[in-house]
Amino acid sequence: MRQFPKEFIFGAATAAYQAEGAVNEGGRGPCYWDEFLHRSESRFNGDVASDFYHQYPVDLKLSNEYGLNGIRISIAWSRVIPNGTGEVNEEGLAFYDRLIDECLANGVEPVVTLHHFDTPLSLFHQGDWLNRDNIDHFVRFAEVCFKRFGDRVKKWVSINEPWSVVAGQYIIGHFPPNIRYDVAKAIQAMHHMMIAHAKVVDTYKRMELDGEVGIIHILESKYPITESEEDREAAYVEDVLANQFMLDACLKGTYTTETLAVIERLMTLQQTTLVIEEGDMEWLELASSQNDFLGVNYYASHFLAAYEGESGIHHNGTGEKGTSVFGLKGIGKRVSNPDVPTTDWDWPIYPAGLTDMLVRVHRQYPNYKAMYVTENGMGYKDDLIDGSIDDTPRIDYIAQHLNAILDAIEQGVTVRGYFLWSLMDVLSWTNGFNKRYGLFYVDFETQERLPKKSARWMREVANRRQVIQ
Ligand code: NOJ
Repeated sequence: MRQFPKEFIFGAATAAYQAEGAVNEGGRGPCYWDEFLHRSESRFNGDVASDFYHQYPVDLKLSNEYGLNGIRISIAWSRVIPNGTGEVNEEGLAFYDRLIDECLANGVEPVVTLHHFDTPLSLFHQGDWLNRDNIDHFVRFAEVCFKRFGDRVKKWVSINEPWSVVAGQYIIGHFPPNIRYDVAKAIQAMHHMMIAHAKVVDTYKRMELDGEVGIIHILESKYPITESEEDREAAYVEDVLANQFMLDACLKGTYTTETLAVIERLMTLQQTTLVIEEGDMEWLELASSQNDFLGVNYYASHFLAAYEGESGIHHNGTGEKGTSVFGLKGIGKRVSNPDVPTTDWDWPIYPAGLTDMLVRVHRQYPNYKAMYVTENGMGYKDDLIDGSIDDTPRIDYIAQHLNAILDAIEQGVTVRGYFLWSLMDVLSWTNGFNKRYGLFYVDFETQERLPKKSARWMREVANRRQVIQ
């Protein structure tokens, strides 16, 4: 039976706003989610979430007991620098000291992200990543964290899923500032995030700390639904926008001519052009050979068809099949593939798309040193029946994706770890507490944790380093 390499990390992931709660404790300032989710029409917010701020000793003990040797956490920028630019909050730093020490005491390596969707509110109101000043504010925050925690944290992530941030903010519009179909804004903000990442890598390397730094991208394969030229073009354009643009920036240190051709075409849809300032490309080039790893988040792949109808994006979030629409006029539309099953939220379950992506990065971006699958998992309703949770569909999902990783490793790809999203149930940005991903069930009334069937299964997988079928 196939085995994962000896040093492979079996971990699980969390993120500050989705897990911590305690939004008014320890001198934390607000991030934009606090404001947005407190509007009257919002059905949920992260005020308490999974109460990780207080429950982390319980969660880390469970991680250890269930065989995990890694955890992704993120540092809330606004806990450390409450308004994003001003004074550093010692209480915030002290909380992360305790959290990181607890990880280490439990033999669970912390992989720490600096930006997981949670720009401080004041900087959000100044334009967030569309504002170039955000770059230097972010680098300062990174430096504060490297100084304080760099002795104990050996794996750092600059930014989590830049594409999801800008797609949510400027294309789909379900993240504040809730702008729709403005692909040009999305690309411009993404470019600034790429520069921010490059500067963070440079800062880390200059500090000569003993550890690794990288970035996490959501990398989902895009396939044409038919072999027609139009459908192939639709898949190609979405791929360039969502995958290739950032892979080029981080791992090639430039935007290739092919990438720029698509980007320019998309920018003209909004009658604008991408602003690249003097020095930007040098930053990209400098950082591209210095990344120690690439984090790959993978949930689904998409099937695309050409689309000339009006742009429309909709998901009613009820978990009913067939309720999603994602189409951009003149670009393409995601369509369902009858041969591919989907989750209750209509996300196609397609593990081969993960193998394809890992192999593609390996072949097209020889600059990468190692990859970690930093998120993968399945949203599920998880009914609590007689005090236990049978989440067999999640186990099947994880097993298929772990096998997909082994397939890539067999083709020569360096993959060093797998982090399940999520360690325990946490807040879902758009579905609140109804869409669960955790290995541990959270009773959001009592904050009690309960291992799901998948947690017991994962323990076996981690112990044997094999996918248990
Ligand atoms: C990716 C994000 O990093 C995480 O915050 C989110 O909850 C999961 N995807 C699930 O959608």
